[in-house]
Amino acid sequence: MTTLQFTETHEMIRRTARDFAQDVIAPSSVERDLTAEFPHDIIRQLGELGFMGMMVSPEWGGSGLDAVSYTIAMEEICKVDASVGVVMSVNNSLVCWALEQYGTDEQKERFLRPLASGQKIGAFCLSEPGAGSDATQQATIAVQQNGSWVINGAKNWITNGTTASIFLVLAQTDREKRHKGITCFIVEGDMDGFERGKKEDKMGIRSSDTCSLSFTNVKVSHSTHVLGEVGRGFNIAMEVLNGGRIGIASQALGIAQGAFEAAVKYSKERKAFNRPIADLQAIQFKLAEMSVKIEAARLLILKAATMKDKHENIIKAAAHAKLFASKIAVEVALEAIQVHGGYGYVREYLVERFLRDAKITEIYEGTSEVQHIVIAREVLKETV
Ligand code: CAA
Repeated sequence: MTTLQFTETHEMIRRTARDFAQDVIAPSSVERDLTAEFPHDIIRQLGELGFMGMMVSPEWGGSGLDAVSYTIAMEEICKVDASVGVVMSVNNSLVCWALEQYGTDEQKERFLRPLASGQKIGAFCLSEPGAGSDATQQATIAVQQNGSWVINGAKNWITNGTTASIFLVLAQTDREKRHKGITCFIVEGDMDGFERGKKEDKMGIRSSDTCSLSFTNVKVSHSTHVLGEVGRGFNIAMEVLNGGRIGIASQALGIAQGAFEAAVKYSKERKAFNRPIADLQAIQFKLAEMSVKIEAARLLILKAATMKDKHENIIKAAAHAKLFASKIAVEVALEAIQVHGGYGYVREYLVERFLRDAKITEIYEGTSEVQHIVIAREVLKETV
């Protein structure tokens, strides 16, 4: 960890994201949580702000910002609406990043440019009905035929599934080779044989769209639609997810910060025993615990993002950040409800949404159990 100083650019990103979240996202977030309607117009505006391809080079239509800027923007957006945050996160840190790192110039021009500018939305398709945490067990297969690849199979829990038009799809191209026989393909949403399932009715992040996808003889070309080398798809997915985990950690942090601010505000307004409950030590201790957890998560995220910006190995740092931030997001959201008492348990007071939204951060982009595996393996490697 080198520095905790934010640059002028970081502060400008924070102000821009905070203002946008308050002025544009907040007014409709309660309604969208109820209706589960996708925030099309908000995502379009985020694209215009340059937030859908924050770390992509301007050469390919992105904002050319660092990972620290990205975490700042994610926190501010997710403080207000974590559903909007996950759409942004998957597009930025999974799809755009993968295309910029591994794509050819032709692929960057055709696929990355519209994603980075927010004209199109991307999705990352690794999980399957039988391959979640054990991601090497891909049942989706791709077979080579006359210079093309034909993909068959199914994916599920795909964020942005119903709205995306560019999909990174992991498929088995050589069963004998386990993870070394997995390849990453770019599939376009209007291709023959590609179908989307219905939007899942989720507990939280309800207005983001999650669905299953099916591929029936979807034919893609070798030169345009294979991302990176054949047989290197699993490694690409793992590398991409390291960065993705910083994004989801920032989402969790934003949720925790939002719940905390709601609890502080309420504790100053609500009176009991003839004084604001903020004067009661029982409440003060809760706020203190919440505050220290949030600050520790923020530092872990900043460390991981700073390391990413310096092109250092972030496997452990990203897993630390995601494991801890997601855990404290659930804890802080629960305590925020407790501070609100009965009012915390009803929808009208909004704090219960933080808990519903927080839970997913312990599940997607590698469950907390997977983060423990990742951290333990790195620790054991270091201490040989
Ligand atoms: N970074 C870079 N490379 C990694 C890696 C990491 N974090 N983890 C594994 N690898 C590499 C290994 O180095 C190895 O490469 P080589 O064979 O070339 O040396 C290869 O991947 C296989 O590694 P393992 O043998 O260790 O693999 P494993 O079967 O034991 O599984 C795992 C490891 C950590 C459990 C992995 O399967 C995993 O991360 N699972 C979770 C998957 C996941 O995060 N899914 C999220 C879905 S996407 C999503 O949620 C997006 C969304 O919509 C919000």
